[in-house]
Amino acid sequence: MRIFCCEDYADMSRKAANVISAQIINKPNSVLGLATGSTPIGTYENLVARYEQGDLDFSDITTVNLDEYKGLSGEHDQSYRYFMNYHLFSKVNIDLSRTNVPDGTEPDSDKACADYNAIIDSVGGIDLQLLGLGHNGHIGFNEPSDCFDKLTHCVDLTESTIEANKRFFEKVEDVPRQAYTMGIQTIMSAKKVLMVVSGEDKADIVAKAFAGPITPEVPASALQLHQDFILVGDKAALSKLLQ
Ligand code: GLP
Repeated sequence: MRIFCCEDYADMSRKAANVISAQIINKPNSVLGLATGSTPIGTYENLVARYEQGDLDFSDITTVNLDEYKGLSGEHDQSYRYFMNYHLFSKVNIDLSRTNVPDGTEPDSDKACADYNAIIDSVGGIDLQLLGLGHNGHIGFNEPSDCFDKLTHCVDLTESTIEANKRFFEKVEDVPRQAYTMGIQTIMSAKKVLMVVSGEDKADIVAKAFAGPITPEVPASALQLHQDFILVGDKAALSKLLQ
């Protein structure tokens, strides 16, 4: 595990974009695992700026996103498909047909998950997986549990996650109660994993996940076992890990 301690959110975003840019330049046909949430937005802004400067080419890139709310279509402005189109895909020269997000409109969970696992297999696995971190240690939507879920599955979101994500919806009742998410085994199979963390409110969970025991109660703790895991965080988020 390598840790980059950054001055602030802008610095974190630039350094995370450096890692992703290096991946794209070294392997122009990379498969990128992508994440949503507020933390990676600055990273995407940096990638778009580098594309606009002519330094990055997304034309051979394939993407697989971590998760999607069950019940939301890609047109819903809180769906993760919409988020990705808005923050990245519509702003770079990526082939949209090579961007993948679980199908939130598929009501049959088993089918939605099997289809997504098949897509991940068909693209040959993930070269670099970008992750944020939930306040309860979730990655993607792998919530605290008594076992590590391996592949794509349907999860019941915890109250704390619903509470954290309600800021994006008009009212709390609008937050979907379920989501489809990539499993821990798939995330751990990525050749490289990059996590971005920012803000004092993440300091406790960052310390718990990366200096505490490896347990499915803190899903991100599994990353301690990954061979090429890079944690890029600002000083505030890393304050309790590095003290
Ligand atoms: C959501 C996403 C996660 C993300 C988390 C943290 O629950 N499913 O992938 O990491 O939120 O979001 P934020 O970066 O806004 O704190």
